[in-house]
Amino acid sequence: MKKLFVLFVAMALVAAFAVPCLATIVGTKHDFTVGTDSTAIKAVTNQGDEICKACHVPHNAIATSGTYDVSGILWAKDYGAANITGQTLKVRNSILCMGCHDGVIADAANTDPAAPKFDFTTRTTALGTDLTNDHPVDVVYTWYDTTKSYAQTAFKDPATFAGKIRLYTGTDASTNNVACQSCHDVHGKADSTGANIPKFLRINNSASALCLTCHNK
Ligand code: HEC
Ligand code: HEC
Ligand code: HEC
Ligand code: HEC
Repeated sequence: MKKLFVLFVAMALVAAFAVPCLATIVGTKHDFTVGTDSTAIKAVTNQGDEICKACHVPHNAIATSGTYDVSGILWAKDYGAANITGQTLKVRNSILCMGCHDGVIADAANTDPAAPKFDFTTRTTALGTDLTNDHPVDVVYTWYDTTKSYAQTAFKDPATFAGKIRLYTGTDASTNNVACQSCHDVHGKADSTGANIPKFLRINNSASALCLTCHNK
């Protein structure tokens, strides 16, 4: 009986702590099986009623997207990332984001000009092909760049945000780069209540908390 009780308490605890982690990609803007745009996007992604398949496939994944190496992530499709200007992309996840967030989701492998594509260039969610007016991405986190005199005073020690914000290795083998996924989680991230943090952010930016995680200001 005591064992059963312990088991019950253990299960209750698991259930209690499991709830706050429930937020996922399901029903978000990256769940292209729902929402008003789903039909148009699905015509390009060929995902059917599957969520993950817009971006990942279990077999026959692609190895390059345009000229970029995107192997090792079971990537579903080359979304025809435009030539990005203004900043140099060198971290895989940034490359994958810009395949769509240049504003047009089109299947680069499909040469039929009449092929369907999802155009969201008129929305703020499309960053466009020129990243000049966007926060630096795929740059080494300045705290590590000791050639800059302000590096360790203007920026926080990465040890202070370990487990919250991630820094990435680039295709040029540089380490500790800030990339799209440093601030975002493409699958959605839960806050302490279990709700998704808006805009797929890793840290809710209320009171600029995300910015202040890195910047000493
Ligand atoms: C809108 C595109 C998109 C969709 C949809 C998507 N993913 Fe991802 N996923 C990515 C990107 C981009 C990365 C690379 C992240 C990185 O390198 O930091 C990734 C990485 C991953 C990884 C490896 C690294 C990690 O974060 O754990 C797994 C596992 C994964 N996805 C599983 C899934 C599953 C399961 C689904 C469906 C429930 C899914 N993804 C849906 C874009 C997507
Ligand atoms: C397969 C295409 C695709 C990929 C890959 C993709 N996105 Fe998106 N994303 C979209 C679309 C479509 C929307 C919805 C656009 C809209 O409604 O204006 C969106 C919406 C978003 C939003 C707004 C969310 C909201 O709730 O308002 C953010 C932030 C975002 N994406 C970030 C990313 C990041 C970061 C990556 C890479 C790690 C990424 N996306 C990869 C297609 C994609
Ligand atoms: C330094 C942190 C940071 C980096 C790096 C970053 N973002 Fe964001 N992003 C944000 C914040 C914060 C917001 C929310 C802005 C707001 O709600 O006012 C946001 C919003 C967005 C949106 C939604 C815009 C809208 O109007 O709804 C998209 C799409 C997006 N980011 C994509 C990307 C992509 C793609 C990359 C990489 C090329 C990237 N982000 C890199 C911090 C970042
Ligand atoms: C993951 C860490 C990180 C986060 C989070 C972050 N930044 Fe940055 N930020 C950087 C790095 C690294 C640079 C590049 C600095 C350099 O190389 O001199 C930078 C540069 C800047 C610059 C200088 C612009 C430029 O083109 O060099 C501004 C302004 C800025 N960030 C504002 C913000 C704001 C606002 C937020 C929150 C929305 C934010 N940052 C979030 C790391 C971060």
